[in-house]
Amino acid sequence: MSTHACPWWLGYLLVTPLRRLKEDPRKILTPYVRPGMVVLEPGPAMGFFTLELARLVGPDARLVAVDLQERMLAAIAKQFLTLRATGVVLWAWRPTSGRARYP
Ligand SMILES: C[S@@+](CC[C@H](N)C(=O)[O-])C[C@H]1O[C@@H](n2cnc3c(N)ncnc32)[C@H](O)[C@@H]1O
Repeated sequence: MSTHACPWWLGYLLVTPLRRLKEDPRKILTPYVRPGMVVLEPGPAMGFFTLELARLVGPDARLVAVDLQERMLAAIAKQFLTLRATGVVLWAWRPTSGRARYP
């Protein structure tokens, strides 16, 4: 097992809009994610897939995003403002502490 996580600054590259040209989160996720599902997203980094997941599960569902790195979770917290508007609850947890940052 690797002892290194992807560096936090790489998170900014992972959410670049250019990536969508090659990997469209909606196209990738739509066949698998339905409204009302409870979804666990391990290692979301800065949330490239997170917002689309939230849209797909809808307002009565739960999306749980778990990442080791605080900086990644902080970037997702910014998206959380948008997610709240859709009524979706995002829980970003640090597995090491088990603490919910954004209940
Ligand atoms: C290469 S990034 C992928 C990010 C995202 N899935 C994407 O496609 O843009 C991997 C992420 O997983 C996180 N990570 C690695 N190991 C983890 C673990 N055991 N538990 C939770 N998060 C983990 C890292 O902190 C990093 O943010």
